[in-house]
Order: sequence, then structure tokens, then C-alpha cells
Amino acid sequence: MFSMCGIVGHVSSEDSTRSEDVVMGGLARLEYRGYDSAGIAVGSSTGMTVVKAVGKLENLKAELATAGDLSGRGAIGHTRWATHGQPTTANAHPHTSLDGDLVLVHNGIIENAQTLRTSLQAEGYKFVSDTDTEVVVHLLAREFLADDEEGDRFGREVEIHGVPQDARGTAGALARAMNRVMRWIDGTFTLLAMHAEAPGVIVAARRSSPLVIGLGEGENYLGSDALAFCEHTHDALEVGQDQLVVVTATDVTVADIDGNQVQPKKLTVDFTHDRASKDGWPTYMEKEIHEQPRAIADTLADRLDSEGYLTLDELRIPAQVLRTVDKMVIVACGTAAYAGQVARYAIEHWCRIPVEVELAHEFRYRDPVVTEKTLVVAISQSGETMDTIMAIRHAREQGAKVVAVVNTPGSTISRESDAVLLTHAGPEIAVASTKAFTAQITATYILGLYLAQVRGNKFIDEIQDYLDKLAEIPHKVETVLSRAETVRQTARMLAQETSVIYLGRHVGFPVALEGALKLKEIAYIHAEGFAAGELKHGPIALIEDGQVVIIIVPTPRRPQLHRKVVSNIQEVRARGARTIVIAEDGDNSVDDYADVVFRVPPTPTLYAPLLSVIPLQIFACELATAKELDVDQPRNLAKSVTVE
Ligand code: F6R
Repeated sequence: MFSMCGIVGHVSSEDSTRSEDVVMGGLARLEYRGYDSAGIAVGSSTGMTVVKAVGKLENLKAELATAGDLSGRGAIGHTRWATHGQPTTANAHPHTSLDGDLVLVHNGIIENAQTLRTSLQAEGYKFVSDTDTEVVVHLLAREFLADDEEGDRFGREVEIHGVPQDARGTAGALARAMNRVMRWIDGTFTLLAMHAEAPGVIVAARRSSPLVIGLGEGENYLGSDALAFCEHTHDALEVGQDQLVVVTATDVTVADIDGNQVQPKKLTVDFTHDRASKDGWPTYMEKEIHEQPRAIADTLADRLDSEGYLTLDELRIPAQVLRTVDKMVIVACGTAAYAGQVARYAIEHWCRIPVEVELAHEFRYRDPVVTEKTLVVAISQSGETMDTIMAIRHAREQGAKVVAVVNTPGSTISRESDAVLLTHAGPEIAVASTKAFTAQITATYILGLYLAQVRGNKFIDEIQDYLDKLAEIPHKVETVLSRAETVRQTARMLAQETSVIYLGRHVGFPVALEGALKLKEIAYIHAEGFAAGELKHGPIALIEDGQVVIIIVPTPRRPQLHRKVVSNIQEVRARGARTIVIAEDGDNSVDDYADVVFRVPPTPTLYAPLLSVIPLQIFACELATAKELDVDQPRNLAKSVTVE
């Protein structure tokens, strides 16, 4: 019934196939957001055409190939990720009004859909889908038709200022209808609507779901994120909470819920189309794994002032506030949360501030102790993860300051936080996160070093030393990548495995969790990550002859830690495990206990995760490829989890 989904819209002033092309191109780049079904509506001077198909976008393309001429001056499209209701053609978007004139796409959840559906049914509306979205299309059609009639079912009529006049006043009427509907529906939504009477006009609205406007020459765009139109324009506008948008080929009007025009914030889309394409790689995931040296280097770039002090231009929290911080809480989900777990080791060590790391969805329901002195760090690639958004809202209500570590400028999390530290990983399209993880660790390390500088925990030369060593990481990642073939061979040999265990200690523990997550999500193999020290407290019972165990070994320059992990390898080996070991160049102490060793260059302990995770990413990617699975779009998942 509800969806996370990708949404694209395009308007121009003349009928042509441009709208179809732009929307289909945009959907292809947003397909990572959902891929259960897809659809497009094209509006032309002769009417509205809707084409939908179940499954991947290719199926929709095949339908379009037989659909005849789809020239139009406006189009809206949708790629869906459903959690309730089958991915059927009827449930796919766009949804259509009973007269077929009004079309609508939606991302989010309408929480009062059932009540509205019952009352619309009582009025005689027939429903053809199980979706909450269909309620909205009928409401919108009803309000559009009632526009000229006396009275407003919603209590008051709001005039939307600045809407361009079209011959029949359709834009104004649709905008007023959308405003009424926005006040009527509960939940989260991005809505894009188009009417056959004015096919060059899209009316959109958003509440807690993403929407960005792209500005073109004689044409304009709408998208769930800027990837939807990055190949056509770099000029974009952010749409705020509860705002309504009217877009024509030449005008963009944004209004608040009271109909007052607002000046949207400008956004420059700094990634190019190439960064959003596969660029010769067989999968986005492989491309993104190989982009990590650049993602880390770009995230590190331009962070020092002329005197060598770390400056974070985006960080809008005054230094005196940062000095009073007595606790940090990192909130995130999935891979981003594992990056947070890695960051904890560094930040506590450098800044002597207690750091908690909490899954965003657990944080909110726990009544956490958060005060004005708590610094909350929200880590998110997409910047749209609803669980993380709700966690930061909760934290800010308690008076905490929130720093967002996000990869998507202009995203909801970046807008709703007090400060933003951008990871410059470029667009991450593969559903399984790779370059975002290493960029997130890098960014949180910069944040930790900045705090250490501001709070006086470290001298400038010490910070410089840490930064210099961090600057060597991109080159070391290149080295690890150049050794990928051993990892690939091993992965291919293990394609039939049904269970893999990952072990790590200290910063190696979150890396073990991340390695296991990668294998689960793209290779569908049951995988578990454990703290190596926990082994004897239970998990060792799982070890039997032939069980594959991957162990991340710390540097021998931390002998105590190193020794303990080497003992753990021996313990599982003694019980019949096949062991794959990730160890530093020159660390021969592991050779006798490993079936295979993946080597990484020597590096300071805290930076080791940036290297040791790489073979684990390649391993999962190659294993999924060997199993002929869809590496970029694994089953049941979507890239942005925009519903709780
Ligand atoms: C795993 C993965 C997810 C995300 C998680 C948070 O490969 O991609 O676990 O890390 O859904 O997403 P963001 O970072 O967009 O908040």
C-alpha cells in the first residue's frame, strides 16, 4: 500500500517526445529507489496517455515501444517499491481519476487512507487498486471539479499566489485543489499531478518525502532527487516541508500551505551525468567500489585554512557550543550505522567525549537521555531515511544540536539539521552501500579531529599528522583494489555456501558487521558478524567442519589486540572452519591458520576499516555475480528507505 519510490516530472511548451525521454531517463537513474513496477503519464494537447508495467523499468520500456506516438508537453513517471499489496499494474502509478483526465504519482504513506477511502466509496467512487494513492487522486479530482462551486469542504479556501494564468485557469484550480487535499491527508507524501486540460502544468506537493525542482531553458523538471535530471541541468531548487509547487515550461511557483509565495533555496547539482552512469563497469556496485579512492579524497579535500587549521565551512554550530558538548550520539541505519560504530573508536580516543551509536529507529522509542549538551550526529547517504529523520527531530526537540553527515546536498536530513558535513562520494546508485561507507568514516573522522582541535584535545601538529596519514588512504585503497583478483577467485569458489561468519575486534568489529550485511543483501547468503571476543560466549557453537569464517586481523603493531585475534583464528580452525583472513602486508603470523589471506597495506589502526572493508565488498559483489543475481538491485530492497 505504501511506497518509497522514485518520482520524475517534466514540462515543456510544445508537444514532442522530449517529456517521455526525460522522464524515462530520470526513472532509469531513480530505479534504485524501487523496482517492483513503473509507469508514466504523458499529457498532450489531445489528451492523457498512461502506460504502466510490473517489474523492472525494461518492462515499461517494452510496453512503450508498442504504445505508439507519445508526444506531449508534460509527463510524470514513477518507479515503485511496495511493502503492501502486490506489485500489479493496477497498483502501479500513475493513478488516474475516474474521468481519466487527472493523473497522479505519489511517494510516501497516506495514514488516513482507509477512512478517506470509505467516505469516497460512500460517495460512489470506485477503486481499482489497493493503494493509498488512489484515494488522493479521487480527492484531488473531486476538489478540482468543485473548485467553482460554493463553499469549501475543508473549511477555508486558500488562494495560491503567483500561479501562472493559463487559458482555462486549470493551473490555479489544480493548485487550489492540491492545497485542500494537502490539508486533508495525514502522513508523508510527495505528489505530482497533471490534468488533461493543461498538460504543460505539473502541480506538486511535499510533506516529509523528498522533492527537488530542476530549472531548464524553456522546460523544467521535478524529481525525488537531483539524479532524476542531472544530465539536463545543474540548477535546482529545494522544496520545503508542506510546500506546493506549480511548474510550467517557463515558470516555477512555490507556495506554503497558506498560499503565500516562498523563495525556494537554490541548489547546485554538482555531480555530472557520468558519475551517475555505469561508465563501462558491468554493475554500479563495482564502479562504486572502485570510486572509493576518489570518494575519500574528495571528502578530505579543502578542509584546511591557510594556517593549517581544520575548517569546516558547512559546520554552522559555534565553537563555544561544541566546547560544551558532554556526550555524542550517532544515529543512523544499516551501513551508515556501522560507519558510526567505526567513528566512535576514533572520536572517543581523540576527543575524550563519550560517544553512543544507536540505530535511528531504536533511538526514538527509547526515551534517550539527550540534553542541550548532547551533540547528535546523523549519518545518511541518501539524507532521506525516515527513521533517521524522525530520530533527529526527536533529538532537536530535546534541545540537542544535530550535525548531519550526508551525501545528498539539499536532502531532508541536511535541511533539518543544525549543521551539515557533506561526504563527497558522488551519487551512489547500487542499493548496497560501498563508497558511502568509506566516505562516511572519512567525514566523521574529520568531524572528530575538528572537535579535538576546537576543544583543545590535540595540538595543531598532532591533528596535521592524523590528517596526513588520512590523506594516504586513497592511494592505499588503490593498492587493495589492484589485488582484487584473489578476492574474486575465492568468492567464485564459495558461490554455493549457505553460511559465512565474519569476526573482528575493535574497529574490525563493525567492519565484520558490514561485511556480513553486504553478503546478506546482495548474495542472499546467511551471514553473521561477531565481535571476535564474543566467540566463546556462544557463536563458536556454530563452527563445524567446513564453515567459512572471515577474520579481520588488526595490525601487528598493536600486539595485544593482534595476538587475541590470531588466537581466535586458531580456535575456529581447530573446530574445522575454513578461514579467510584479512591481514597487513608482512604479517606472516596468520599464514599457518589461513586458507586464503587478503592483504592490505600497513596503516594506523583507526584507519584500517577504510582498507579492510574493500575485500569484503568485492567478495560479496563477486559472489552475487557468480550466483547470477542482480547485484545493483537486490530483491526486496530499495536504496532510500523513506518510510518508517
Ligand atoms: C546497506 C545499505 C543500507 C543503508 C541504510 C541507511 O548496503 O545501503 O543499510 O546504509 O538504509 O541509508 P542512508 O545512508 O541513505 O540513510
